Amino acid sequence: MAAKFYLTTPLYYVNDLPHIGHAYTTVAADVLARYKRGAGFDVNFLTGTDEHGQKIAEAALAKGEEPQAFVNRMVEGFKKAWRELDISYDDFIRTTEKRHEAVVQRVFSQLLQQGDIYKGEYEGWYCVPDESFWSELELREDLEGRKLCPDCGRPVEIVKEETYFFKLSKYQAQLLEHLEKYPEFIAPDARRNEIIQFVKPGLRDLSITRLTFKWGVPVPHDPKHVIYVWFDALINYISALGYPDGEKFKKFWPADVHLMGKEIVRFHAVTWPALLLALGIPLPKQIFGHGWWTVEGQKMSKSKGNVVDPLALSEQYGVDA
Ligand code: ME8
Ligand code: MG
Repeated sequence: MAAKFYLTTPLYYVNDLPHIGHAYTTVAADVLARYKRGAGFDVNFLTGTDEHGQKIAEAALAKGEEPQAFVNRMVEGFKKAWRELDISYDDFIRTTEKRHEAVVQRVFSQLLQQGDIYKGEYEGWYCVPDESFWSELELREDLEGRKLCPDCGRPVEIVKEETYFFKLSKYQAQLLEHLEKYPEFIAPDARRNEIIQFVKPGLRDLSITRLTFKWGVPVPHDPKHVIYVWFDALINYISALGYPDGEKFKKFWPADVHLMGKEIVRFHAVTWPALLLALGIPLPKQIFGHGWWTVEGQKMSKSKGNVVDPLALSEQYGVDA
């Protein structure tokens, strides 16, 4: 039997068209997938789109469209780009698909039942473009004293609402042990060091539901809450394989490499493994966080609009170039 190789890209937000940064990760994954196939591996190469959450809901609203109609339209831009760039993915998953939502709800219910999820109140800061929570101490400030996201530098908003928490703190010691025992778990080393420094002082429980908008997977039996977009999206790496009973899950899990940009390594190297530890399933072999394409020193970003179109470049220079 051929050895297996399972690799993934992030699921890209569909708030705008893909730019050369998304093409970079996807092309790198494609090169790796083709190389592994050529070397005789049985490869599963997964990509897809992240379609829920406040950022997408706001993008849809700004266009005057229903979120579902909006994401249905936007996903085509990604599929077209990957078609034109000749990306050889084996599966494309959208977080609005039933096969995915069902697994998200199942995981939520299981963790609630086993006491790894509990209800409480969250008060803190939130960056909508990054869909991430921040503590007061982590924030930056501008000259007028406005609070800014330490990652992307854009203004954060205050969130105060009833929420369900995931007991991230409970998995801190186990996670640290894993990070120290498997140096190849996070690459390159600079990323690994950052994560170890982040995990060492202890982890706070993570708010994993939102109450103030509707666009997400509803919490089972408490549908006024929707599941936090990162909790939802990370699960794609197993839902796409048909977790828990699917043949593909049995064959391909754990992932050999999750490929991504450095800004989302924390979600993949802290939140995701803690979730997997709670579910009692093996951790991926490697999280690889590459650097950024920048424009005048700023990260190229859909939400900033300072983008280069990969399709225009491939038209001019060809797909291989
Ligand atoms: O973060 N340079 O989606 P996203 C290099 N939905 N790579 C870049 C880049 C740049 N300037 N800009 C984007 C999300 N990328 C979440 C992920 S995963 C379960 C959920 C690439 O649309 C890079 O791979 O913001 C980065 O990590 C990813 O696109 C972020 O895409
Ligand atoms: Mg981003």
